Amino acid sequence: MRLLLIGSGGREHALALKLSQSVQCNALFIAPGNPGTAQCGTNVALDVSRHDDVIAFCKSEQIDLVIIGPEAPLVAGLVDDLEAAGLKAFGPTKAAAQLEGSKAFTKELCDDAHVPTAAYKRVTDAQAAKDYIRQQGAPIVVKADGLAAGKGVVVAETIEQAEAAVDMMFGGSLGEAGAELVIEECLIGEEASFFALVDGTHALALASAQDHKRVGDGDTGPNTGGMGAYSPAPIVDDAMTARVMREIILPTVEAMKRRGTPFRGVLFAGLMITKDGPKLIEYNTRFGDPECEVLMPRLESDLLDLILATIEGRLDHETPSWSREAALTVVMAAKGYPGTPETGSEIRNVENAASMNHVTVYHAGTARRDDGALVAKGGRVLAVTAQGATIADAQTCAYDAVRSIDWPGGFYRKDIGWRAI
Ligand code: AMP
Ligand code: GLY
Repeated sequence: MRLLLIGSGGREHALALKLSQSVQCNALFIAPGNPGTAQCGTNVALDVSRHDDVIAFCKSEQIDLVIIGPEAPLVAGLVDDLEAAGLKAFGPTKAAAQLEGSKAFTKELCDDAHVPTAAYKRVTDAQAAKDYIRQQGAPIVVKADGLAAGKGVVVAETIEQAEAAVDMMFGGSLGEAGAELVIEECLIGEEASFFALVDGTHALALASAQDHKRVGDGDTGPNTGGMGAYSPAPIVDDAMTARVMREIILPTVEAMKRRGTPFRGVLFAGLMITKDGPKLIEYNTRFGDPECEVLMPRLESDLLDLILATIEGRLDHETPSWSREAALTVVMAAKGYPGTPETGSEIRNVENAASMNHVTVYHAGTARRDDGALVAKGGRVLAVTAQGATIADAQTCAYDAVRSIDWPGGFYRKDIGWRAI
């Protein structure tokens, strides 16, 4: 098959590497890709927000299947447009991607399908928001309805912080994403990332993972896209997996089907494991980044087989096999992240780290300078993954690799995996 993968992050490097290993993969293009994906296939400089350009490329290159990594093209309806043009695509339609694109939509669906989640109220004006906050008290969580690239959630410790968040979001700094807010109960417990493939009717749980959202050691400082991850997540054992499937994933799949907008693709539930059981914090409609960088190394089955089974409604016949080894990834970010990252600094010795046993270095925000040197281009720059018999072994190995990379312009957390070790 001839494949086109959309995206340019560490997640896409992990997917590209796995896809390139499939016996069914004859050609792999990545748009726009990064220097890491260039080692797995051919990068193409497409502007993926121009759906007509993507379709034209697929026709001229006889692409059999388009796999979409990030959320923005899904929410923008790329799958709908590809399918309308007679092309095959992996990912939810625009209507189904509302599970990630609109927090209010997801909350309503949770009510409808009796999915356990934080108590909440939808608000469209500041007075209603503040009245509800005062009535509920702190801590309380303020969320923008739409996609806000990680900036749309404030976990407020005090009423004043919550009110400031309301003013910030309604003040227009998040654009359209902040036109409506969801104010919700602050859940207490341990977070976990739960991934399932969904084919419209059936759902198949993938291996569990946990990421570290805060920028600083000990889970302190502002939220990021994720500073590291590991798999499996000990808190999501077999019994918890069965419970999450029964109480959260399957009722959602059924509700989406009932509404005439069946979900196909990766359903990623952000969970809080509370003393009353698992509760849904949010849905994403794609693989997590950096969770994908620990799931793909552990996946022993052919990823392309699983993707085709998802598209063709055959997930009830699939049982993916996973390595018994653990995987752990450490994200190396450019100084300044998650604020404004400093770009352009040179990164040396990546090849050395990547050649270490049990180590894979995934590229995210890297670029090649004209002289061939590798430089930082974005906030999260590399995801350094190692596998080991235990999470502790994988951690030791990942940090050996991280320390061997010579990049004064970067930083990383020193404690990825601490909860599990
Ligand atoms: P989200 O973008 O919805 O995943 O929120 C980002 C982060 O905010 C989550 O990973 C949690 O750490 C935190 N968070 C979101 N909603 C809640 C909640 N209701 N209770 C506690 N923490 C939350
Ligand atoms: N690591 C969380 C996410 O991909 O949204």
